[in-house]
Amino acid sequence: MTLTAPGSLQTDSAGARPAAGGPVPPSPARGLVCRNCGATFGLIAEHACAECFGPLEVDYDPERLRAVTREQIEAGPQNIWRYAALLPVGQDPADRVSLDPGMTPLVRADRLAAELGITGGLWVKDDSANPTHSFKDRVVSLAATAAKRLGYSKIAAASTGNLANSVAAHAARVGLPSYVFIPADLEPGKVVQSAVYGQTLVAVDGSYDDVNRLTSELAETDEFEDTAFVNQNVRPYYAEGSKTVGYEIAEQLGWRIPAQVVIPMASGSLLTKVDKAWRELAAAGVVEATEWRVFGAQSAGCDPIATAFDNGWDVVKPVKPTGIAKSLNIGNPADGPYALDAIRRTGGSVGRVGDEQIVQGIRDLARTTGVFAETAGGVTVAVLRQLVEDGRLDPTKETVVLNTGEGLKTLDPLEPVVGPTHRVEPSLRSARAAGLIG
Ligand SMILES: Cc1ncc(COP(=O)(O)O)c(C=O)c1O
Ligand SMILES: [Zn+2]
Repeated sequence: MTLTAPGSLQTDSAGARPAAGGPVPPSPARGLVCRNCGATFGLIAEHACAECFGPLEVDYDPERLRAVTREQIEAGPQNIWRYAALLPVGQDPADRVSLDPGMTPLVRADRLAAELGITGGLWVKDDSANPTHSFKDRVVSLAATAAKRLGYSKIAAASTGNLANSVAAHAARVGLPSYVFIPADLEPGKVVQSAVYGQTLVAVDGSYDDVNRLTSELAETDEFEDTAFVNQNVRPYYAEGSKTVGYEIAEQLGWRIPAQVVIPMASGSLLTKVDKAWRELAAAGVVEATEWRVFGAQSAGCDPIATAFDNGWDVVKPVKPTGIAKSLNIGNPADGPYALDAIRRTGGSVGRVGDEQIVQGIRDLARTTGVFAETAGGVTVAVLRQLVEDGRLDPTKETVVLNTGEGLKTLDPLEPVVGPTHRVEPSLRSARAAGLIG
């Protein structure tokens, strides 16, 4: 990849270039729009509005989105790129910088439903099945593809762990230098899974919010001028990757939107994008415009969005995160107000659970569905239980919960509480003594 100054996606005439499978369809994106003041911009490498510093989001041509059909999607590959007609970049397969994540299993969770008293149907969207075992591969594939189109020569990220894993793996796959910054106290599984790809991994003595501040400052230096920080200067493109979770759930349900969904929140971006995905599908007539309610899940150790929800605040007051759900430990969530908006607009709610409940959530999901979640999934399952018990979630309605990461990444809180049920010598006598046979 050549070292060129970051430019605009619009300088390239997407659509003109013939691909192996025929002409490349144009991107449906027409620019960036400020979520705060509505100012519009080209498809540039910027995440904050020049007018008001509000967050920028990809703006689509509604005509192009409305033209999308089920048949077109179903004819696509078994990964996120089947939804390319609804994404800002990656229409041309040759453009993609991607581990091709997505189309992860939607697992029917009848035994968990029975235990919780949910009669309307319960599903687990299991994103631990992605290439680096979390939903972050979706956002990184979009960010890395946009970074290449914008002319960057390096990628970087501030991460609570999963993003680090995914950025380093994407960089390794395509031979692109990457710089990943993590809090030094992350789980050993997440550190090893980032380091193994042989990229630059910087452990920072501080919280995620400290790491984020450092990378914002580094991004302004000459040394990082040609670097795409996936969740900073190319964040508008990055964030769109999370929409594919919503598209897949709808498609896997037979082109239907579930009545309720429970989503873990760190920055709050994933939650807003699942809701956005369903609004787009309904607007395109790809699914019926049924009503859905969006529920957010946080840990008690890092609950700024839950607190704002409980108090009826529109602004989110930052906290200092603690607790075992480290991947969700963002004390100053960038998309908090937008997550609150989606939750309130759809009539949802927010739950928060402590560390013991999180471990119990992991064990409940594993015991009843055979899915081993990381701590973020434990948060979501424990919040699901809480929402049912409080009567905030309707047990007679179809519900989907997200498992966003793999349990092997966060073994540490499980090790003290699970292990072999028996220990025997290799003899029948010992097996009998242990009660395995009569
Ligand atoms: C496993 C897992 N789930 C959920 C999230 C929340 O994502 P968001 O920041 O989009 O709210 C993260 C973020 O790092 C994560 O790692
Ligand atoms: Zn603005």
